[in-house]
Amino acid sequence: MAHVTASTPRDPNTLSNYNKWRTSHVTANLEIDFATQWLKGNVVLRLKSLTDSESKEIRLDTSYLDIKDVKLNGAAAKWALEPRSEPYGSPLSIILDKGVAKDKEVELDISLRTTDSCTALQWFSPAQTSNKKHPYMFSQCQAIHARSVFPCQDTPDVKATVDFNIRSRLPVVASGLPTGTKDFRPGKPGESGTLLYTFRQGIPIPSYLFAIASGDLASASVGPRSTVVTGPEELTDCKWELEHDMERFLEAAEKIVFPYAWTTYNVLVLPSSFPYGGMENPIFTFATPTIISKDRENIDVIAHELAHSWSGNLVSNASWEHFWLNEGWTTYIERRIQGAVHSEPHFHFSALIGWRALEGSVEMYGKDHEFTKLVPDLKGKDPDDAFSSIPYEKGFVFLYYLDTLVGREKWDKYIPHYFKTWQQKSLDSFEFKKTLLDFFASDAEASEKLAGVDWDTWFFAPGYPPKPAFDDTLAKPCTDLASKWQHRQTTPFTPKPEDVSRWTANQAVLFLETLLGSLSPLSTNDIADMGAVYAFDKGENVEVVARYFQVGLKARLESVYVPTAELLGKVGRMKFVRPLFRELNRCDRGLAVKTFEKYAGFYHPICRGLVEKDLFGEGRE
Ligand code: BES
Ligand code: ZN
Repeated sequence: MAHVTASTPRDPNTLSNYNKWRTSHVTANLEIDFATQWLKGNVVLRLKSLTDSESKEIRLDTSYLDIKDVKLNGAAAKWALEPRSEPYGSPLSIILDKGVAKDKEVELDISLRTTDSCTALQWFSPAQTSNKKHPYMFSQCQAIHARSVFPCQDTPDVKATVDFNIRSRLPVVASGLPTGTKDFRPGKPGESGTLLYTFRQGIPIPSYLFAIASGDLASASVGPRSTVVTGPEELTDCKWELEHDMERFLEAAEKIVFPYAWTTYNVLVLPSSFPYGGMENPIFTFATPTIISKDRENIDVIAHELAHSWSGNLVSNASWEHFWLNEGWTTYIERRIQGAVHSEPHFHFSALIGWRALEGSVEMYGKDHEFTKLVPDLKGKDPDDAFSSIPYEKGFVFLYYLDTLVGREKWDKYIPHYFKTWQQKSLDSFEFKKTLLDFFASDAEASEKLAGVDWDTWFFAPGYPPKPAFDDTLAKPCTDLASKWQHRQTTPFTPKPEDVSRWTANQAVLFLETLLGSLSPLSTNDIADMGAVYAFDKGENVEVVARYFQVGLKARLESVYVPTAELLGKVGRMKFVRPLFRELNRCDRGLAVKTFEKYAGFYHPICRGLVEKDLFGEGRE
């Protein structure tokens, strides 16, 4: 089945008419102008006609872009920017004099600049960077922010090859392979000149994987095909954190799926306002500096982003309604990597932490909520609003269920088949189902088992899936200690640092998560005692510190309010920022609002927008 057909578009979150035209190549000629904090230049799109001369209009997504001019096949084009419709932006409509025969291509050359309202880019003045010497900028396009950088068919159902020609006065990384730096142009007196940094992405990618960053960047090798890039002062810590596992992860993943397709796998460690743990931009994963915790305990994030090199980047969800195909598969492969690199119990331990995250999300939304479905209805919705652990963990549980249902040996043969079948394409949940059933059609035993799968319930029922039986070897000490604390009122015990001193940070995470998930919160005295003895708030690992504050806030332990506000000024990763703000808001609204206003300029525009909605509702100007 063709992945894009001339029928109705299956992605409800784009205003483009990608059912009539399909982008095959993008050339982005953009200058990074740190003085104005805009990208300026032109973008050339090659678009193929999908119908026989039927469509005389090309509609592209844009959001807060300043469009200067549009040329069609080298000549002036008739174009208009239509009124904005939230949350999708203003479609750019280009009217053709006559239709174009099926499979013939046209070339659009669009001159533009970004604006101050751009939601995809974060800009830093030198004073806002760690060494305060140079400005910095980075992009974050997933889910629907690429349209805020250049006009495009902003849907994961369309994939194109990309040429990046990026001019900057500072080093640039992009989601393509570097093809050189050239064309030095001197700057004004007292200013450095600029260089043209060029990259090519020869594997077709969806718009959301378009990525660039530029700043005072240094690099170090962390494996035979891997480099870490970050600020010069941060480089040695980043190298130490990553070099031990990088190649092991790659080799483990290649054994599970098939050889890595993108040539090199590198990591850019960003400033602390980066709104995610990691973003799987091809060639260069973008990562939060909170993974550099000096204990190599948070590099599961890297195993996760690496896994996207197959699930998401080679094989993509056709729309954000089928996001579980990206994140569920990636979570599954990430855990298989952990199991292979460490030991089988690590797969299960990570799955148990994941189950807690699923409980947290289902509780937050309520178990009948649309967003608790594996395949939610996102018509008219902003995919950022639907973002939670549900596609990750319900998706993981579904894949693990299928894995145990057909048996590991057979399932392991299916994994490469699935990724080969869909590589360089996009698919939805129905195609996932068909591919699986077709593969096992000649295996009577497996087919009989698969005939018992209740697909509709898995895809469309809200709330919890059945909980699989996970091995709890690594988890048991954590849940046992949590239970001691929960019964401390009736069965007193004296906590000692040794209770947790030999634990990994992730065991502390599970311990705290278990307390967070319990219906009867601990007393404030108990939580203060726990903090004093276990020193959870003193470490470098934000996963632990943030969860300890979360436990304290839930019980209204006043001594954690100010430290929480301080942490909110240091990390911009939404996984921590949003729950901490929501809870701080319940404890002390004045402090929450004051803290948000104080740090609003530090947060990435996506994070700022979502926290604003969390604190003030939709309607705030
Ligand atoms: N692709 C996601 C990040 C993302 C999702 C960005 C949706 C924008 C919209 C990335 O792969 C991810 O899942 N990151 C996690 C890492 C974790 C699950 C190990 C994160 O940011 O916490
Ligand atoms: Zn992911």
